[in-house]
Amino acid sequence: MDRLRIGVIGVGSVVREIYQHLYYHSDFSHLLDVVAVADTNAPALGWFCDTFGIPPERRFEDYREMLGRVALDVAQVNTPDHLHAAPAVAALEAGLDVVVPKPTAATVKDAHAMIRAARTAGRLLGVDFHKREDPRIKEAEARYQSGRYGQLQSTVWYMLDKLLVVDPNHRPPFFASPGFAEKNTPVSFLTVHMCDALLKIVALRPVSARAVGFRQKLPSLTPIPVAGYDLVDTEICLANGAVAHIIAGWHLPNTAHAATVQSSRLICTDGMLDIGIDAPGLHELHPDGIFEVNPLFRNFERDGTVTGYGISSPGRLYQKILASRRGELPAAVRESLLTPAALGFHTTLVLQAAEESLRLGRESAPGVVSGPVLDLGELVVRELGTAAAAEYGYGG
Ligand SMILES: NC(=O)c1ccc[n+]([C@@H]2O[C@H](COP(=O)([O-])OP(=O)(O)OC[C@H]3O[C@@H](n4cnc5c(N)ncnc54)[C@H](O)[C@@H]3O)[C@@H](O)[C@H]2O)c1
Repeated sequence: MDRLRIGVIGVGSVVREIYQHLYYHSDFSHLLDVVAVADTNAPALGWFCDTFGIPPERRFEDYREMLGRVALDVAQVNTPDHLHAAPAVAALEAGLDVVVPKPTAATVKDAHAMIRAARTAGRLLGVDFHKREDPRIKEAEARYQSGRYGQLQSTVWYMLDKLLVVDPNHRPPFFASPGFAEKNTPVSFLTVHMCDALLKIVALRPVSARAVGFRQKLPSLTPIPVAGYDLVDTEICLANGAVAHIIAGWHLPNTAHAATVQSSRLICTDGMLDIGIDAPGLHELHPDGIFEVNPLFRNFERDGTVTGYGISSPGRLYQKILASRRGELPAAVRESLLTPAALGFHTTLVLQAAEESLRLGRESAPGVVSGPVLDLGELVVRELGTAAAAEYGYGG
């Protein structure tokens, strides 16, 4: 087998921004053959299939029909977070490997159903958290794990987008859906990236979480106000007692120096580590303003190839799936793909807990919601029962 036959389920924003380049203009494209597409939204389905020549008989509104009719090796499930589980489980049960964009799912129940389906079917489930392939995160992980800083005590992470990302008043609109910031929170969109990167570096289990959310800027937008959170500070306690704050928002002025302003500091018993992700070294002075460009994430090269860790992250998942299909994936690599951390379970847990903490929170000041601390072991046992919770190291 030289190429994976892929059925793509969901061709919205993330496909427009990232995956179309992976499938057709990347160093991984020769391994990938998108043979069928399913999307419930006719214009989205038409855009992708017309652009890339998917014939009418391999365009579907219903992914179940696609799974039943077309011979496939992999399904890439690009539906919204709360709709990952059903198509992913159906594809795994049909004998396909599955790739999903971050986060694995919106709830641990969904994530567990996907993980269990992969294990039962003996197939791979890959979660595209692209920061896992950011060379700075990988180097930070290697250095932290060498023990050179001792153990983590306290850490702060920021990930702040420009307002235009969620402002329905901005022209042209960044997201197709005007209700994006009302239906989603900065936690599901941004915090999960930093949480996953932190957990990858320190390899510690989260044990409790709470969130404080701010709804001050978005409701003031005109003429269309947005009833959503500007900023959420998620406080996470890790198994060694360390405390992390992950501060994520999407209300920075559009004049911000980078599309996403992001950085982190880890303070440890024997040292400290700063990761300045929004200062990648390409500083641009241009009639439109002064910008930090991040060519490490997504880079449009002159020959039309698109590179960067936004592409190599899913690309390397596909390489492993292809090796597995050929019977060439080393057992240790297979194992490393199936740990709860690799499958994004802990990050989904923090996401669910932070959003639940906000729902249970009280207004501590105008527009500020202060949520209670939630014990993550109790949450996992409540959602999955004690036996399944133990599989992830919780309860008991
Ligand atoms: N890797 C990243 O940085 C990144 C960036 C943005 C989004 N995402 C993730 O990608 C996923 C999709 O986000 P998006 O921004 O592209 O959303 P979107 O709403 O723009 O697109 C989702 C698409 O899925 C389709 N869909 C919904 N239900 C379906 C179903 N049952 N069958 C087939 N198609 C269905 C919708 O019609 C839509 O076209 C989410 O999990 C999101 O968190 C990842």
